[in-house]
Amino acid sequence: MSEQQAGSRIRVEALTASGQDQAAQWAARLGLPLQDEEADFALQVTDEGLQLQQLGDDAPGAVRVDFVEGAVAHRRLFGGGTGQMIAKAVGIQPGIRPRVLDATAGLGKDAFVLASLGCEMSLIERQPIIAALLEDGLSRGRNDRDVGSIINQMRLLTGNSIQLIRDWQGEPPQVIYLDPMFPHREKTALVKKEMRLFRPLVGDDMDAPALLEAALALATHRVVVKRPRKAPCIDGAKPGYALDGKSSRYDIYPKKALKPRPVE
Ligand SMILES: C[S@@+](CC[C@H](N)C(=O)[O-])C[C@H]1O[C@@H](n2cnc3c(N)ncnc32)[C@H](O)[C@@H]1O
Repeated sequence: MSEQQAGSRIRVEALTASGQDQAAQWAARLGLPLQDEEADFALQVTDEGLQLQQLGDDAPGAVRVDFVEGAVAHRRLFGGGTGQMIAKAVGIQPGIRPRVLDATAGLGKDAFVLASLGCEMSLIERQPIIAALLEDGLSRGRNDRDVGSIINQMRLLTGNSIQLIRDWQGEPPQVIYLDPMFPHREKTALVKKEMRLFRPLVGDDMDAPALLEAALALATHRVVVKRPRKAPCIDGAKPGYALDGKSSRYDIYPKKALKPRPVE
């Protein structure tokens, strides 16, 4: 746990009378208080789902996982499909839809993009509040007519990926996708609201080299690491090649070529 995490105080609250029970359940599950006047964050049960609100002056708006409406839904419909850089990075091609483990799931946006393109996804998130937001978004999306079938291809695990990957049982993922937090220092609007909210909770993922090493040992076909475009590679093994996007870069660590599935 980082110092920032240790210093962040979080309370759970319901913004509607009907949400009181659910708030109490989340509080018990996460070991958080229902009342704390000094809290830095509030995890709020609302009619639209679970959301995280930073408290105090100058706080960004609340963050919630929403696969049905908003930016993620827009990207599903108009985001460029299999032409997107992330699709190329994980090796999507005609007839190829790899089984992917997203070991740094965050709010699940990248995983949702890959699931919507037909990949079977496992997701791991270790920060319990972020995992709670993601779990809530997935369960709301599961009942939706348009995205329910996509969500059914996404399986969420909570815990530290390094350990879960080392202890992996069953069929290994073909591709492991990593997008660890990178130590940004700028405080401008360029740093997205979610990242500003995340940072005090998550800190910088300083154990990314150990995660990369574990991922390389488990993935059968490739590991993909998303980085800010100008950032150095994760320490350790060097990528075989990289795909450059406008603001991100994908470092690819190839192990074996992905092949189209035989037609059944
Ligand atoms: C930059 S965010 C990922 C954003 C995500 N790609 C998305 O599209 O929403 C990084 C996340 O990875 C998680 N993370 C980093 N290292 C991890 C590990 N070893 N195990 C599990 N989660 C990890 C952090 O808690 C954080 O939520």
